[in-house]
Amino acid sequence: MADTNLVPVVLFINNKGGVGKTTITQLFAEYACVKKEQRVLIIGFDGQMNLEEAYIDVVNDPDLGKIPPIHPEWDELTEEEKGDFNARSSITDWLLNKLVMPYPTAFVETEKKKGLIDIIPCSDLGMELMLNRSTGIPLQKHIPESIRGLDRLSTEQICSSLAAFCVLEEVNEDYDVIILDVGPTKGPLFTAALRAATHVITPFNPENKSLTSLTGMLSAFKKAQLERVDEELKAHSIRKDPIHFVGCLANEYKANNNIHKENLIEARKTLGNLVFPEGLELKNQIAILSTTNPIDSRRYKSYWMMPSSNTSVKASEPIFEYIYDKVMGEQTNA
Ligand SMILES: Nc1ncnc2c1ncn2[C@@H]1O[C@H](COP(=O)(O)OP(=O)(O)O)[C@@H](O)[C@H]1O
Ligand SMILES: [Mg+2]
Repeated sequence: MADTNLVPVVLFINNKGGVGKTTITQLFAEYACVKKEQRVLIIGFDGQMNLEEAYIDVVNDPDLGKIPPIHPEWDELTEEEKGDFNARSSITDWLLNKLVMPYPTAFVETEKKKGLIDIIPCSDLGMELMLNRSTGIPLQKHIPESIRGLDRLSTEQICSSLAAFCVLEEVNEDYDVIILDVGPTKGPLFTAALRAATHVITPFNPENKSLTSLTGMLSAFKKAQLERVDEELKAHSIRKDPIHFVGCLANEYKANNNIHKENLIEARKTLGNLVFPEGLELKNQIAILSTTNPIDSRRYKSYWMMPSSNTSVKASEPIFEYIYDKVMGEQTNA
């Protein structure tokens, strides 16, 4: 299949934790679904499973940590079909040559409204096993049958796993956009996400220290890009389409904070148009109104279902419109 038929794969990434990756990923997924009626597939690749928790009933197992719930359609499968799947479907099944069943969320298509969000979760222990695989530290835990083998994968297998999944024909037929959620740790999971992505956004907190992480992120991005565009390296890459670096996005920006202001000016001076255009900064109240906050989620299914007169919605919409245009522009205008 030609790369032009593949749907975009969006990645909000930073090797720093707590900069808003998961929050922004969720907001973007819902923006594409609710506002633009797109079919969205989220793939969880962070053992913390915060994004999964926003959409499905993640189980906190005393021995295994966080695991996906039993798939809602599990009971409907025949005994024969069950053999190809795990009851708790996870992206790690793909790495173990099993089939993957995306989970439906509260965002489903109706007669009146198109657009949906499905999610493929990961698991705490599954991600840990793959990370351990690369550090070589043996895990002092009982490994359940369903993920046995993850500790024997090669680093190369882990690094190319997501890219290989995201180019599958079935996946590209069923969805309009794929969105990845990855944790902060650099390593094979991080590389896997970069190798799969077509559009990268790096959220950052405009506090003093976090600016230094941007340069590190940009070099990781450049390395991933080289694997796509260099004629020789390209031959071994699963994806051969270049990555679009949409930009560094300031999050939790306080306009009345001088340090924030100065840091943003500095970032624009150093990185130029690798930073989102002026005015497109996410303010620090966005998550307060997000659906992950139980107070709001009781009233609104999505952040984007709040009245458009809401100050937070009004301020953040242009940012998500900007990202959406960069990601989907070519498709929707074609
Ligand atoms: N714009 C924002 N305004 C207020 N709180 C935010 C904002 N962005 C993120 N947060 C909060 O900061 C914390 C870390 O965000 P998260 O998205 O989990 O970061 P990451 O995925 O990068 O680790 C969360 O509690 C989240 O609710
Ligand atoms: Mg996160």
